[in-house]
Parts: sequence; C-alpha cells; structure tokens
Amino acid sequence: MATSSFPILILLLSLLPFSYSHLHKLKSTTSRLHSNPDNTTSPTTFFEVTRPIPVPDTQPCYYLLLQHDFAYTYNKPPVTSSYTPPSCLTQIPSHIVLEWNATCKGRQFDRIFGVWLGGVELLRSCTAEPRATGIIWTVQKDVTKYSSLFFKESTFAVYLGNLVDSTYTGVYHVNVSLYFYFESDKLYLLDEQDNIPAFHFPADLVLPISRNLPLNDGLWFLIQNSTDIQSKELTVPSNAYRAVLEVYISFHSDDEFWYSNPPNNYISENNLTGEPGNGPFREVTLRLDGDVVGAVWPFTVIYTGGINPLLWRPITGIGSFNLPSYNIEITPFLDRLLDGKPHIFGFGVTNALDVWFVDANLHLWLDQKSSKTDGNLLKYEAPAYVPRTISKFDGLDGELKINAQRRISSTGWIKSSYGQFTFNFSQELHFQNSMEFRDNASIQLVRQTIESTYST
Ligand SMILES: *[C@@H]1O[C@H](CO)[C@@H](O)[C@H](O)[C@H]1NC(C)=O
Ligand SMILES: *[C@@H]1O[C@H](CO)[C@@H](O)[C@H](O)[C@H]1NC(C)=O
Ligand SMILES: *[C@@H]1O[C@H](CO)[C@@H](O)[C@H](O)[C@H]1NC(C)=O
Ligand SMILES: *[C@@H]1O[C@H](CO)[C@@H](O)[C@H](O)[C@H]1NC(C)=O
Ligand SMILES: *[C@@H]1O[C@H](CO)[C@@H](O)[C@H](O)[C@H]1NC(C)=O
Ligand SMILES: *[C@@H]1O[C@H](CO)[C@@H](O)[C@H](O)[C@H]1NC(C)=O
Ligand SMILES: *[C@@H]1O[C@H](CO)[C@@H](O)[C@H](O)[C@H]1NC(C)=O
Repeated sequence: MATSSFPILILLLSLLPFSYSHLHKLKSTTSRLHSNPDNTTSPTTFFEVTRPIPVPDTQPCYYLLLQHDFAYTYNKPPVTSSYTPPSCLTQIPSHIVLEWNATCKGRQFDRIFGVWLGGVELLRSCTAEPRATGIIWTVQKDVTKYSSLFFKESTFAVYLGNLVDSTYTGVYHVNVSLYFYFESDKLYLLDEQDNIPAFHFPADLVLPISRNLPLNDGLWFLIQNSTDIQSKELTVPSNAYRAVLEVYISFHSDDEFWYSNPPNNYISENNLTGEPGNGPFREVTLRLDGDVVGAVWPFTVIYTGGINPLLWRPITGIGSFNLPSYNIEITPFLDRLLDGKPHIFGFGVTNALDVWFVDANLHLWLDQKSSKTDGNLLKYEAPAYVPRTISKFDGLDGELKINAQRRISSTGWIKSSYGQFTFNFSQELHFQNSMEFRDNASIQLVRQTIESTYST
C-alpha cells in the first residue's frame, strides 16, 4: 500500500572547540554569537529549504485563523480563536495549506511552538532567532490530510512560550492562515484506479491524543524521564476500518542535543554533576493498552538556535520550521478497538531526559455503509532488544560506540463493506552513533546514522 524509507545521515564535525562545561550550554553560546547583528537595515528573510506544495493553479479561498503578538506567553494558556468553516467549503477541497507568517525584532531565543485545531496538532515548529534589524519568515504546510477537521466548528490554539524582559526583547508578530484550493473537475477522495477511500489520506475522522484545554502550556504531553509514560483514553467508532497514528515529537532542555549526550558513567566518573547524560540513543514508543505497537527513532532536528549559526541563519535546519511527524499503522490492532470501549494510547521515551513534547493524531477511515466492522490480529512481534555499547574513556577523553536495531511488525485482517483486507505493518530501525572526546573534551565529534523503513 505504501512504503517509505528515510535514511538519515548526520555529521556533526568538530562543534567548534569548547570546554566540556560549554557543551550543553550551546544555546547561550550561540545566542551570544548572534547578539552582534550586522548592519542591514531591512529585515532578514529566514527560510527552510523545502519542496513547494503542489497546489492547483486556481484562486484559493482564504481564511485568517489568528493574528497575535506573542510577547510574554511562557506558562500562560495557549492563544485561541474560534474556527468556523468558511462559506466556500461547500465541497471537499483538493488541497489545504496552512500558512504561518511572522516577524520579530530585537533579541530573542528560538522558541518551540505547536498549532492545534480541535486538539489535533497541525504543525510543530520553531521560531527563528531575530536580529536587531528584524527578521521575517513564512512556513507553509500541506494540511490536506486533516481535511475532515475543517468542516466543523472548533477551537484553534497556538502555544508559543516566549519570555520578554529587558535583555530578551523580541516579540513575535504572527498571522496564521488557511488556503483552500478546489478543483472542479476532480473528486479528490475517489481515485479512478480503486475507489476504496482507506487507501488514501485524508481520513474520515481525526481524533486528538493530546492534553485538553484549559492548560498553561502546549497541548503536547511532557515526558521527563525513561519511566514516564504519558497516555490518554480514547474510544474509536465501531465502524472504523483503517487506523493510523501520527506522532509529533520534539526534544528540549537536557535532551535538545540528545544525540551528543555522553553516557551516565562518563558523567559520574568525571564528577560532572548536573550535566545531561543517558548517552545518545533515544526511542519514542507508541503503546496501545500497554503494548508497544510502534516506535520512532526520531530525526535529529537542529532548532534555529542550535550548535552553530551557520546551521540556521538565514537558511534554517532541516525540519526546524516544520518538524516531521511519523505515521504508525495500527489497523492490525483495530479489532481490539471496535468494542466501543475506551482504550489507552500511551507514549514513552527510552533514556529520556527532561523534556520531550509528544502527542498524536489518530486518523480513522469509517465504513459509511455499516455501523460495525470486524477484524482480527493475526500476528504481532515487538521483540526486546538491547543497544550494543562499547566505550573506552580515560578521564574526559575517549570513545563511545552504540549500535541498535529493532523490528516491529503486526498483521491483521479487517472486514468492512469494502471487503476483507489483510494489513501488514512493519518497521525496520537501525541506529549507529560514534562519539569521540579529544583534548580534554575541548573537542567532541559525533557521527550518527538512523535508518528507518516503515511499510504498510
Ligand atoms: C555598522 O554600523 C556601525 C555603527 O553605525 C558602523 O560603525 C560600522 O562601520 C557598520 N559596519 C558595516 C559593515 O557597515
Ligand atoms: C505571508 O508571507 C508570504 C511570503 O512573503 C506572502 O506571500 C503571503 O501573502 C503572506 N500572507 C499573508 C496572509 O500576509
Ligand atoms: C499580519 O496581517 C496584518 C493585516 O493584514 C498585516 O498588517 C501584518 O503585516 C501581517 N503580519 C505578518 C507577520 O505577516
Ligand atoms: C519520572 O517522571 C515522572 C513524571 O514527572 C515522575 O513522577 C517520576 O518521579 C520520575 N522518575 C524518576 C526516576 O525521576
Ligand atoms: C570525583 O570525586 C571523588 C569523590 O569526591 C574523588 O575521589 C575523585 O577523585 C573525583 N574524580 C575526578 C576525576 O575528579
Ligand atoms: C501479511 O501477513 C499475512 C499473514 O501473516 C501473510 O500471509 C502475508 O504473507 C503477509 N504479507 C506480506 C506482504 O508480508
Ligand atoms: C581537564 O578538564 C578538567 C575539567 O575542566 C580540569 O579539571 C582538568 O584540569 C583538565 N586537565 C588538563 C590536563 O587540562
């Protein structure tokens, strides 16, 4: 049905010479670097290199979701607005584009933010760090897969935790908009080849697996350590015949640079108390009633203030303006969910340090001709695994190598008025990290490769 493979190669070569104590204070180091703005008088345009969204050559219908100035917003409720479907939504749009436009001037850190409609996350992103002469940027995201949401009234919410004081003066001025595109001669949902909607996004229903408002934070769950499992109960309609869990992930504070974290024994043997540790391997697990149904070995997004200005100004790091989300097919487990009772959807992060922001959207395809579908799980394998670690340290200098691989697969059938189908979902995950500390840890070298193959 769909196969995706995304090999990931990261090379962090010689992250500038710095002393060990500076290693995990990269943020403050880099923010000092950009506090000497150059003399251009016009605002700098920041951008992430992405593929253009293939929209039709027609006039879109415009909807302003929110206009807001994010000043001191940290630990305050998300900024909300009421969404009402625009009158142009009389047919199913072929494309829907979400647009985030922002300006900022002064001095400010990069801030993570999330954008939700009816609790469903539409965008996880990071602000660009301003200059004294101002910056401007635009993020556009294809949100067609969330189509069903735009047909009902709901609450739109943005959480962007910003701090403003006499030093950090930057206020983010933001407009968030939607563009609906229509193609009159084409019915988007039905393909001529096969008319089974479940083989295509958008789903009929998207349910949020996020925290409910009111909150003085984002709607994401906070995962603070490796035993911390955050979860939510959800009831799935009994006529669902396909289910895909879409997970949003970002990592911060002690784990912002998790891929460069040294192991705990290195920290303790060298008396580096208070430094982040747990080594460089992380896994986000997705749990259904306690069973691990999928795992994500996340892409190492470098936010717009991370490591070195050359990585983010004015071209920002891959994924920093539009963090990747990850799809886990859970159709093989649908039989369990069709009983009309609540089930527990949980998230954990192996080796996590404070803090990971995780939530998910459950995409569901519903049988319009029946109130009950049937299914059965045939096979499910999520064997335990242990990352292999080799380390050799003498004081602050030395080497660490970690290898891990994991396979998770599930097979089940589902019967609806479209027929009976067998779904196989499998994940092949490979991880390799080698780390070197030299010159009394004034130099750290990290080479990491993650390969993920998901197939349905
Ligand atoms: C930047 O501005 C300062 C103060 O106005 C001036 O002295 C300096 O020459 C300018 N630098 C450049 C590269 O234009
Ligand atoms: C947002 O910025 C882009 C790029 O400058 C521009 O094309 C677009 O019209 C802007 N949208 C709004 C609503 O101002
Ligand atoms: C937001 O929209 C208002 C009204 O159209 C406009 O004046 C302002 O420049 C926009 N801001 C951004 C950041 O696009
Ligand atoms: C892990 O985090 C949870 C949630 O914040 C907390 O209750 C628990 O005490 C923490 N466990 C450890 C070992 O720190
Ligand atoms: C760490 O602290 C212990 C106990 O205070 C001390 O014996 C040891 O020499 C210290 N190690 C280093 C590398 O400083
Ligand atoms: C899917 O699973 C079924 C049942 O275990 C098996 O017969 C079939 O060969 C699998 N198909 C693929 C493509 O893996
Ligand atoms: C290495 O760094 C540690 C911690 O900063 C310091 O205590 C020690 O004196 C340094 N050793 C050498 C040989 O420079």
